[in-house]
Amino acid sequence: MKEVRHDLNGSKHDFTPTYNNRWPDRYLRAHRQLDYIIPQQAKSVFEPLIERCMQARQKTRLKIIDVGCSYGINASLLSHRISLDELYVEAAPRTGVLSTRDIDKHRAYFTDRPRRGDLSIIGLDPSKRAVEYAMRAGLIEAAVTSNLEHQDISDSEAELIRDADLIISTGCIGYVTDRTFRRLYTATAASRPWVASFVMHPFTYSAIAETLTGFGLATQEMPELLQRQRRFSTQKEKRVILNAMKMLKMDDRFERSTSYIYASFHLSVPTGIPVG
Ligand SMILES: C[S@@+](CC[C@H](N)C(=O)[O-])C[C@H]1O[C@@H](n2cnc3c(N)ncnc32)[C@H](O)[C@@H]1O
Repeated sequence: MKEVRHDLNGSKHDFTPTYNNRWPDRYLRAHRQLDYIIPQQAKSVFEPLIERCMQARQKTRLKIIDVGCSYGINASLLSHRISLDELYVEAAPRTGVLSTRDIDKHRAYFTDRPRRGDLSIIGLDPSKRAVEYAMRAGLIEAAVTSNLEHQDISDSEAELIRDADLIISTGCIGYVTDRTFRRLYTATAASRPWVASFVMHPFTYSAIAETLTGFGLATQEMPELLQRQRRFSTQKEKRVILNAMKMLKMDDRFERSTSYIYASFHLSVPTGIPVG
């Protein structure tokens, strides 16, 4: 299958200057500007999935690995009664708690919220400063910061994720390929975690799904769970994405009818476990 480059040959909006800072406000403001909404949309899919995963694995607590965890956005939404819009509001310059440079205030902002205590979330992201923030703010328990696209996971990192139940990701497929998933799943294969990924159009999941097949997982794309990721940044970006989708024979009706780019949902579970 044809593949597309992670930056769409320079036409994809470049958020990378916001990925690896000490504080999350710049990231949040940049993403709010393009109505980056996928973590909120994903929450409504991940929450029932977490319940199903708990039931199927007969567990009352799940260890989740968030690939491309960044500043702990998915972790904050999944563990607390909080919305992405609230995070965006708190990233406002001067007035927002999340734009302060006081980590105690950030921690308090999250700990003051109702929190579910049955998720242990480990982040995986080479953006070390963002990941450190997520840990200091109490959003993730631990992190893997080796870039698994280019290097093996260290023994101590492998130990952190050994007994994972569920691997999730939003907004990072493209940067992250089957190379990362091969290394990640090799380190977690003993506990056979489920894998749930949102994949922004026009990136494809086939190489990752094939890798997971090699570990005994069956992957299904669930078109009914297609979600908005963010708005197009420019007409040029829209043109390039629509051209790539056409080349890949992807259904582009949603992109053509709205001003949003969508993300497809893929779920992989050990063969024999019903997916639906
Ligand atoms: C658009 S952000 C998505 C962050 C978060 N998941 C969300 O939806 O808000 C993309 C993330 O992918 C991360 N990333 C880039 N290359 C990566 C890699 N090789 N392995 C894991 N994460 C990577 C970036 O550091 C960044 O945090």
